[in-house]
Amino acid sequence: LIIMTTIAKNFSDLLLTWFKDNGRKNLPWQKNISPYKVWVSEIMLQQTQVKTVIPYFERFMKRFSTIENLSNASLDEVLHFWTGLGYYARARNLHKAAKIITEEYQGVFPISYNEIVNLPGIGRSTAGAILSLSYEKCFPILDGNVKRVLTRYHGVEGWPGKKKVENQLWEIAERHTPTRSIRQYTQAIMDLGATVCTSRNPNCNSCPLMFRCHAKGENTQHNFPQKKPKAVTPERDTIFAILENTHGEILLEQRPLSGIWGGLWCFPELSNNSKIKTTIKERYGFNIKKQMEYKPIKHTFTHFQLMIKPVHIKLQKDKGYDSKMLKWVNPKRNQTLGLPAPVLSMLVDLGNRKRVILNES
Ligand code: ADE
Repeated sequence: LIIMTTIAKNFSDLLLTWFKDNGRKNLPWQKNISPYKVWVSEIMLQQTQVKTVIPYFERFMKRFSTIENLSNASLDEVLHFWTGLGYYARARNLHKAAKIITEEYQGVFPISYNEIVNLPGIGRSTAGAILSLSYEKCFPILDGNVKRVLTRYHGVEGWPGKKKVENQLWEIAERHTPTRSIRQYTQAIMDLGATVCTSRNPNCNSCPLMFRCHAKGENTQHNFPQKKPKAVTPERDTIFAILENTHGEILLEQRPLSGIWGGLWCFPELSNNSKIKTTIKERYGFNIKKQMEYKPIKHTFTHFQLMIKPVHIKLQKDKGYDSKMLKWVNPKRNQTLGLPAPVLSMLVDLGNRKRVILNES
């Protein structure tokens, strides 16, 4: 019989029934409800948990009891009441919006969706929460908690930060929004997301939606909502040949103007698979006395990672020649050439003899 009634009820009815026994009904912003209280609480709750918000909300409301009060306060004081909550743009927007409401709406919180959503710091979901929780107008919401409930329930694939996925979720949210008991429904879906349909260890056995939930059925709760795809940065390997002459000077070579670090001075770069000894002899005519391999360095560019294998090569050469593209520098001196960051740090370490040697030959 319980299962029969579960099947007969739709999404919002299931939530509303659950809310009667399990929803939060005594939060400070639920007493003597006003759009101002709902607005302030919704802004505070955007990135912050209920139990953290409660004392901040109470202090804030005591000091700024009306929108006009808030608009007349200095931004400094408003920020002071926000200290510790974080994301201070929220407080600046709240203050800015209070001034707009005082000047353009005679201090009365606006009533239409368009007016509300145009206030600073209020997006579609917060506007929906204010309209439904305070004015009992049937508007959907879609905050992080609701996204989790809906993606799991319907098995919505894709990262909700993507416009296409977000639009799909808004359509679903609209479809489920009932035409009555909207205040309870809005609170119910937020509470379910916060207390039952949690991101880790959801308590599916006490969820009113469990019999129809896609993720529960497939035991894939943890795949929803899908995470932001990580950009795969390809990795490239290269060798930096740190050539040292018998005077302790290091050879730098100016890079071609095009390509990475164009025009900067760098250690001679060898391709990862080249024979070091032969290449140095062929390119520069130098003979090698001793060769040490240092710990690799990872350098991150926007589109790839460069794994640099530094090889320190002591040459039999006594005094180097400088040319337009080649310079011998003393690593103990301050460098005046344009150097890429990893080259500079390697030179500094060489001057201080700080590199970790992996092997020597
Ligand atoms: N998170 C955002 N709005 C909320 C509300 N009204 N109650 C509980 N958690 C929330």
